Amino acid sequence: MSQDSHFFAEAIQKLKKEKGAVVLAHFYQTADIQDVADYVGDSLGLALKAKQSDAQMIAFAGVHFMAETAKILKPEAKVVLPDMEASCSLAEAAPPDKFKAFVDRHPGHKVISYVNATAYVKTLSDMVCTSSNAVDVVNSFPKDQKLLFAPDKNLGAWINKKTGRNMVLYDGTCEVHDILSTERILTMKVENPEAPLIAHPECQPQVLEAADFVGSTTMLLDFTVNSKAKEFIVATETGIIHQMKKKSPEKKFFIVPADETCACNDCRFMKMNTMEKLYRCMKDEKPQIILDRETIEKARVPIERMLHISKKLIPGQ
Ligand code: 13P
Ligand code: SF4
Repeated sequence: MSQDSHFFAEAIQKLKKEKGAVVLAHFYQTADIQDVADYVGDSLGLALKAKQSDAQMIAFAGVHFMAETAKILKPEAKVVLPDMEASCSLAEAAPPDKFKAFVDRHPGHKVISYVNATAYVKTLSDMVCTSSNAVDVVNSFPKDQKLLFAPDKNLGAWINKKTGRNMVLYDGTCEVHDILSTERILTMKVENPEAPLIAHPECQPQVLEAADFVGSTTMLLDFTVNSKAKEFIVATETGIIHQMKKKSPEKKFFIVPADETCACNDCRFMKMNTMEKLYRCMKDEKPQIILDRETIEKARVPIERMLHISKKLIPGQ
């Protein structure tokens, strides 16, 4: 940890006590932010932690839609985000007018939205899902129910395959996972024949086809802990490697690059957050997520339905 990170880590710990705050961080945050957090998790785990928290302030080290979900589930808490610009290419792919037009074009369909979407999209959805519970969420609908899935077409196609459904897919992608190099993956598999390929379901279909295991960030992490393998080829964002190494220091992790020249599998939105910005948002209590009551009430319904279905995934919620 650099001197600066150390300085801010101490200041953040002090602020937590002074403000009655909790720091929630996603696995794609930088290592120093993960280490100062009270909880590090995937979208589902973070939503649940926010809901169960009795903190007055939730400092959300993640991206905007995650902090918004925390606010919807815990409206009485101040939810602050280190950088309001920390968006997500999937959330941006579904602006209100385009998403409403997609829904209106498909009467008679129920709407399932991936949690990586704005609060507005959630207000028009019958159910929300994350990459942890997507298959269970879809299976909770009768087989003959017509379904729309938005905004991630890769995740949607993967669920269609797993469930035998034919959901109509919105045309959105994650700009990080969608460009991971299939060529590099095949070479890495040849070079490391003992290493299972593990992939996030936002990757393209041919990557998921080649993968030995597909799952959310938490599921990928658990796989590396529980597997007997000593090496892993990891097709997701780089931040997850910090926890993988922490939990299994004796194992090796090879991250799949987008190509030889760029660090494109660092999510530029996730990496907008820094220790300094985290400290400042807690100290200044801004920027804060503000949502009107009607949006909170409407968006909460499909999220709560998802949490109900996820009970078997996270006992004790
Ligand atoms: P998880 O819910 O699997 O952590 O995914 C969130 C995300 O943004 C993946 O790109
Ligand atoms: Fe969005 Fe992709 Fe970044 Fe996840 S990795 S926050 S899906 S842009």
